[in-house]
Amino acid sequence: MKFQTLHWQGGIDGQLILIDQRRLPNEFSEIVCSDIETLYDSIKTLALRGAPAIGVGAAYGVCLHMKGAAALSLQEAIVHLNKGADYLSSSRPTAVNLFWALERIKNTANEFVRRNPEASCDKLRECILSEAKKIDSQDKQMCNNIGHNGLELIKPNSKILTHCNAGALATAGVGTALAPMYAAQRAGVNFKVYVDETRPLLQGARLTSWELSRSGIDTTVLCDNMAGWLMSKGEIDLIIVGADRIAANGDTANKIGTYSLSVLAKHHNIPFYVAAPTSTFDLSLENGTLIPIEQRSGLEVSCFSETQTVPDGVDIFNPAFDVTPAANITAIITESALIEDISKKEIARVVDLGL
Ligand code: MRU
Repeated sequence: MKFQTLHWQGGIDGQLILIDQRRLPNEFSEIVCSDIETLYDSIKTLALRGAPAIGVGAAYGVCLHMKGAAALSLQEAIVHLNKGADYLSSSRPTAVNLFWALERIKNTANEFVRRNPEASCDKLRECILSEAKKIDSQDKQMCNNIGHNGLELIKPNSKILTHCNAGALATAGVGTALAPMYAAQRAGVNFKVYVDETRPLLQGARLTSWELSRSGIDTTVLCDNMAGWLMSKGEIDLIIVGADRIAANGDTANKIGTYSLSVLAKHHNIPFYVAAPTSTFDLSLENGTLIPIEQRSGLEVSCFSETQTVPDGVDIFNPAFDVTPAANITAIITESALIEDISKKEIARVVDLGL
């Protein structure tokens, strides 16, 4: 991968650098986040998006926020940290990696203070930055392992369909859904990828096709409503998508349109795979009906680029995610194992292995 979706620059007074994904593919530019507000805005407006990348970004976001804690006592610094974490956790509701990473940072900070009650605030900040870097490097490793565990699913000359962007742009590493594809390419397997455009914000057309094609992978973009017809023609051998949150029973929230694809896949007898790290599982939720679904501005639907395409005053429906029932999923590719038996018990076992 010749680009870095996000990276930290400097020490505890450093900054977070992000690719501005709103501008791709027309412009490659980066955002320098020196404060938590810039990061919050980047997550909210999808300059930084994709569940694992949001989690890694949020962990670094706390480090940005803690620049304002340098003169505080340790107790005051923890109060300050909690405020920053609460603020970031209100940026987007569905991807559980955001909350997972913030919890990890909070636990690490509390443990540090418990063990080192006399330490300076700078030492606490160093400890938080080091935990954020650990989350970042573990995410890279998780992506590589997902690639390894999903590689066997891509047979020579496979035609794969994917939705949204669950690639390098959505993680700190090579991606989740796209990781087995990059692994297959490295292994010399020949295959082709169809990419759903992914209305309304075009993550497939703008982002997935950008990263796949610049890696030299055979890539074809289609509008979302063309996928069923392609399947009926026998043009799709398997589908791999990412996830924003997976409930204890395997029900999976992912980009809006994923559910419809899973129904079409079932109808056409096409294997449907979800690729996600164990940090994307939320075992506190019994099933997918409990996953909070983000509703976004109607303007994302009523305007195509700058052009208004819906008359004034018409109501708009714009959920950012939907939930695919576990029954429609053939297997879940995680960094620890390929979960083929999608049951509560097996999911709990594999998640435990990963974390
Ligand atoms: O709204 P987005 O672009 O953040 O949605 C992203 C997705 O739905 C991805 O498929 C998911 O986060 C997995 S990314 C590895």
